[in-house]
Amino acid sequence: MTIEFSAINTTPEMPRVKRDIVIIGAGGIVTDSHLPAYREAGFKVQAIYDINAAKAQAVASAWDIPHACSTLPELIQHGIAHQAVFDIAVPASEIKNILPLLPAHSGVLIQKPMGESIEEARKILAICQQKPLIAGINFQLRRAPFMIAAKQIVDSGALGDIHDVEMRVVCHTPWNLWSFLNDKERMEVNYHSIHYIDAIRFFLGDPQAVYCKTMKHPKMMELAQTRSSIIMDYGDVIRANIHTNHGHDYASDKQECFFKIEGTRGAIKIQIGVILNYPNGSVDKFEYVLDDGLGWRSLEIKGSWFPQAFIGPMSGLQKKMEDPAYHYLNSVDDAWRTMCVVEACYQSTAKAATDVQY
Ligand SMILES: NC(=O)c1ccc[n+]([C@@H]2O[C@H](COP(=O)([O-])OP(=O)(O)OC[C@H]3O[C@@H](n4cnc5c(N)ncnc54)[C@H](O)[C@@H]3O)[C@@H](O)[C@H]2O)c1
Repeated sequence: MTIEFSAINTTPEMPRVKRDIVIIGAGGIVTDSHLPAYREAGFKVQAIYDINAAKAQAVASAWDIPHACSTLPELIQHGIAHQAVFDIAVPASEIKNILPLLPAHSGVLIQKPMGESIEEARKILAICQQKPLIAGINFQLRRAPFMIAAKQIVDSGALGDIHDVEMRVVCHTPWNLWSFLNDKERMEVNYHSIHYIDAIRFFLGDPQAVYCKTMKHPKMMELAQTRSSIIMDYGDVIRANIHTNHGHDYASDKQECFFKIEGTRGAIKIQIGVILNYPNGSVDKFEYVLDDGLGWRSLEIKGSWFPQAFIGPMSGLQKKMEDPAYHYLNSVDDAWRTMCVVEACYQSTAKAATDVQY
């Protein structure tokens, strides 16, 4: 199959009829990404609730949301009245307490991670299945326009057989913006590299095993881990690595954040700008090379991770609600498998590495 690069379409599929949305949680990710993405895609937000009522009120007025609810039952009533989708964006430990209160057969999109641990992920999956809920987890990196473009190119066969995937992050992340992370036993992999694990699964499927060491940084000792080295094991030919160091504070132009995928006939390298010089960010760059002798070229991609990638998990959920046979890329069942890889990463870290015999 050949692919016309200029014709690559990165627009997510939309439902026939757009449903309204009600939001639980009025924090940073909602104002930075959910609300801008929904506005761009034409989804109407009807109501918002946060345990901090003043925050819900402020976000409602800033974003023209008709109802700022002071209780969760009130929010749920608005959801029922508008046949709306529930959009949950609260700390992961809260998810399992909110889901049981939602009406059976509701559509619900849940912010990642899917719980703080594999036990919580299992519980979330069980609630979604038993209720049942039509549920997705917001692992949205695989929905970023540059990832959608890369997936289409890989699927076309233009890169040949894929044998090397690398995610490299060397940056300085101001984790103090998310103070709730200070208490977490599981930080870097569960809250950050989880996106890369999920994205690599999107390209390569489930790894058979992992090797991982996730660790602290001497200038960020309040956080359980801020640097990770992960090998996702796909056997003897395909190498898939994630390398993150969030403590590199030696000049923003020395920071790196790229996703690279190599095949026998070509490669794609994507600079992900949002991670660089955070929160100012830098530009995305989509570069590729094929076996046609023309060298590396750039492809112009419209939209980025934040906020455009947040459209697909919502529009896909609504398509799934319209058609149960629709293959929903962010389904809770698929997300569970990303959580299993995360769990394996922490188990690998806890295990002794191979001693060197001197
Ligand atoms: N790329 C991404 O997908 C991405 C990026 C950032 C954050 N997140 C996730 O989104 C979630 C929220 O992150 P944030 O950055 O918005 O954090 P935040 O601290 O800015 O906001 C969290 C909000 O949840 C509210 N809250 C807590 N418990 C609640 C409950 N039981 N009911 C209603 N509201 C409750 C808090 O009052 C707060 O306003 C986290 O799980 C985080 O991992 C995802």
